[in-house]
Amino acid sequence: MSNDREQRGWSASVSDAAGAGDAAEPLDALDSTEALCHQVERLTLENEQLADEVLRNYEQLSLLFDFSTQIAGITHVEPMAKLLLDRCAALLGNKEVYVLDLHAGWNRYDATARVLTCDAPQRVPEDLLAEVVAEARSRHVVAVRAHEDMQLVTGPLEFGDTTAVVLALRESATGEFTSGEMRLLESLLTFGGQLLNNNVLHERIRRLSMQAMRALVSAIDKKDNYTCGHSERVGFFAREVGARLGLSPATLDQLEWAGLLHDVGKIGITESVLNKPGRLTSEEFTYIKQHPRMGYEILEPLQNFHDVRLGVLHHHENLDGSGYPDGLAGEDIPLFARIIHVVDVFDALSSRRSYRNAMSIERAVRVIREEAGTKLDPRIAAEFLDFLDEFKRTRPMEYAALFPEESETEAKP
Ligand SMILES: [Fe+2]
Repeated sequence: MSNDREQRGWSASVSDAAGAGDAAEPLDALDSTEALCHQVERLTLENEQLADEVLRNYEQLSLLFDFSTQIAGITHVEPMAKLLLDRCAALLGNKEVYVLDLHAGWNRYDATARVLTCDAPQRVPEDLLAEVVAEARSRHVVAVRAHEDMQLVTGPLEFGDTTAVVLALRESATGEFTSGEMRLLESLLTFGGQLLNNNVLHERIRRLSMQAMRALVSAIDKKDNYTCGHSERVGFFAREVGARLGLSPATLDQLEWAGLLHDVGKIGITESVLNKPGRLTSEEFTYIKQHPRMGYEILEPLQNFHDVRLGVLHHHENLDGSGYPDGLAGEDIPLFARIIHVVDVFDALSSRRSYRNAMSIERAVRVIREEAGTKLDPRIAAEFLDFLDEFKRTRPMEYAALFPEESETEAKP
């Protein structure tokens, strides 16, 4: 019964629809089909635009995410600023971005070569540049300005006591800077500025600690009349060798500390033994050999100084196991200690000591070559000698300041 009713209802509606169709004008039907087609076309286009926007947002968000993960491992202002500019360039699809007063004046960041050079944006008149910079600094927002056939986007990068200004250019014909790009640029600069700020503060503290430590080190060097500047040079050489070995900036900082502090234990050795002219007796030598362990113990209260302390403790260990205090051999000797050992031996030989005159650089280099593989790590010795050679060629003024007596230091017999 119920099926019959449903069947009848269905037939009636079909017949009603057929009746209405009969009444409609063919042109009206054509119009509504055309309108429907337009609507489908419009929806398809909107859909494509939405898909593009979602894709663009996804790419921009992953760029922000990548930036936050990459920047986490960076502890120095310069590489962090470069990464930030690199991400700004990638976000805007530019090959270069400009930044004012990150260092002094305008700098251009080349995203292909990943270098910063002293360059102002040549295509922008100076008065317009001054205007957009003042605007970015006073309003603290990202803004876009049109100039002839170009678009300029500027944003403030606030860190430390400075407000640097980032600027990028785009040909108007290639499209305008979108509001999405501007929002992300603002997030990138705000986030980057906060991280840079933390690093600026961190570097200030680091510099302060380094200065305090240098004051302590110069007190040690003064106690030992003949080692003036020795610890500073060992710290400097160690860092250079570490950089050639590809150590990270944070590890290089630790290595430099270890080089500076390697003889801190000498503070516990009496001056009469330290400054004794001529050879030491075997008792005196045994006594002076305690300085690496004394240094290790002096540095015990310093947190996160484990590698530095090991560098100090083992800087007189020989590769063949004949050194002290523990007679470690080969790679059992911590890397810092192996590096410090090479540069310490070189600097000790090329400086005047209480028991002998300074050796010439040439002779000191010969000794390093002879001892590489027995007492000294051969790879580290080779890196150090390469550095010395390059240092002399490429930084002659610094080299001359470090080795003023090179031409007249042929050691006395
Ligand atoms: Fe030493």
